[in-house]
Amino acid sequence: MLKAMKAIIVYESIHHGNTEKVARAIAEALGADLKKASKVEAKELTKYDLIGFGSGIYYGRHHKNIFDLLKHLPYQKGRKVFIFSTSGIRKLPLINNFNKPLEKKLKEKGFEIAGIFDCRGWDTYPFIVKPFGGVSKGRPNSKDIEDAKEFAERVKKHFFEKQL
Ligand SMILES: Cc1cc2nc3c(=O)[nH]c(=O)nc-3n(C[C@H](O)[C@H](O)[C@H](O)COP(=O)(O)O)c2cc1C
Repeated sequence: MLKAMKAIIVYESIHHGNTEKVARAIAEALGADLKKASKVEAKELTKYDLIGFGSGIYYGRHHKNIFDLLKHLPYQKGRKVFIFSTSGIRKLPLINNFNKPLEKKLKEKGFEIAGIFDCRGWDTYPFIVKPFGGVSKGRPNSKDIEDAKEFAERVKKHFFEKQL
């Protein structure tokens, strides 16, 4: 018999709440708990089968609170995890793959990465773009949210296939 999946989404969303919209959609699709990284204790995470870490991208990487939380986690030995983010600028694999630092840290901790999702998020941070309404205005949009839900379904499928 397949074991039920206990999942949690751990996120930070400090700029416009962009990533929170994505986090809520993924949590709903997975039936997962949802918590900010600053409000989670590392030891709490060990009771989950699947953990999703996500945030906006700030200076080329995920939010510091996620990295700080990981520092307090023991070695995870194959525990399933996925990553998500929103960013002002599109990811360019060889130039600005902003998932790399978090991916590396998770692998060092023994996690198995079951998927990565990123989409654009409204960005008014660079003062030069602010008077023009910022970049990636209107994102994440309804298509991004649908894509996030589809991503969650693929992660769920991956999780149960690995159990068979
Ligand atoms: C301090 C700061 C630094 C940022 N650095 C980057 C960056 O390096 N690359 C990028 O594409 N977007 C960058 N952004 C834009 C955010 O990643 C984008 O707006 C994201 O959707 C914010 O998510 P949030 O609303 O969930 O915080 C930055 C935004 C802020 C406020």
